Amino acid sequence: MNIVYLNGKFLPIDQASISPMDRGFLFGDGIYEVIPSYGGRLVGFDLHINRMKAGLTELEIDISLTAKGWLEIINKLLEQNDTDNLGIYLHVTRGADTRRYHAYPEGITPTIFAYTFKIPPAPTANKMLAPKFSCATEEDKRWKRCNIKSTSLLGNVMHFQWGHEKNEDEVILYNSDKEITEAAACNIFIVKDNVIKTPLLDSQKLPGITRMLLLDIVRQHSDYQVEEGTVKLDEIYSADEVWLTSSTKEIAPVIKVDGKNIGDGKIGDIWLAVQTLFCEHRFDY
Ligand code: PDD
Repeated sequence: MNIVYLNGKFLPIDQASISPMDRGFLFGDGIYEVIPSYGGRLVGFDLHINRMKAGLTELEIDISLTAKGWLEIINKLLEQNDTDNLGIYLHVTRGADTRRYHAYPEGITPTIFAYTFKIPPAPTANKMLAPKFSCATEEDKRWKRCNIKSTSLLGNVMHFQWGHEKNEDEVILYNSDKEITEAAACNIFIVKDNVIKTPLLDSQKLPGITRMLLLDIVRQHSDYQVEEGTVKLDEIYSADEVWLTSSTKEIAPVIKVDGKNIGDGKIGDIWLAVQTLFCEHRFDY
């Protein structure tokens, strides 16, 4: 039985319930995080908690839970569930009010939820074992504050579903100037002529923790040139390699976009080099 945390209690998931007046349910008024844990070891815990804090500050949701408090909850969940390979999902909403009214109400108590779900083992740097991704592309139709890791994910869900119906693994999004923003649930990297490139962060992109780790690891431990800047849709098709990054996938090689092969349609050598470094350093954060 999956044991979850809800508002101070640990309980079986089928006994966890919230009010239908919860603003997370009514408005998607909340913030979430997903932290990977491999064999009980977390990747990027502080960075995830800091991003969550920044999101909560942005939404003016005040909770007294500290990083230490979150860690205690997470450790208890790991203990009670499985210390194998788990995604840890953290979710805070503004809480339940007595009426449905758009403005932030005063004096309500935020709802705090955490649960774990199984994820694949930590990726290895092995071209034979790595899953290969195929993506579609679509104009980004989401709101203009995608830097906030909000639980209001309908835009992302609709993009992802559109790709899913076409048997695609992900959907790469671009703005009206045909510049890549990110994917429905991942950040994007390309490699061209040995240069690793990713879109520069702005309010249309989530500041991904995996993206941040990848940039830091490559800058600290390799001679590869990395650039954060504009990545045009055309650059995707002509790239030597394309990668998706997210906490549950780490660095996922994309071999096809819109039905066209990326490079020679095989996993690239720079993916192998960077995933090797990531394996060595993922627990440094
Ligand atoms: N998704 N961009 C979007 C829109 C995302 O939803 C995610 C992560 C990322 C990558 O962020 P990070 O490296 O911090 O996981 C980028 C999570 C895993 C999810 O919604 O399940």
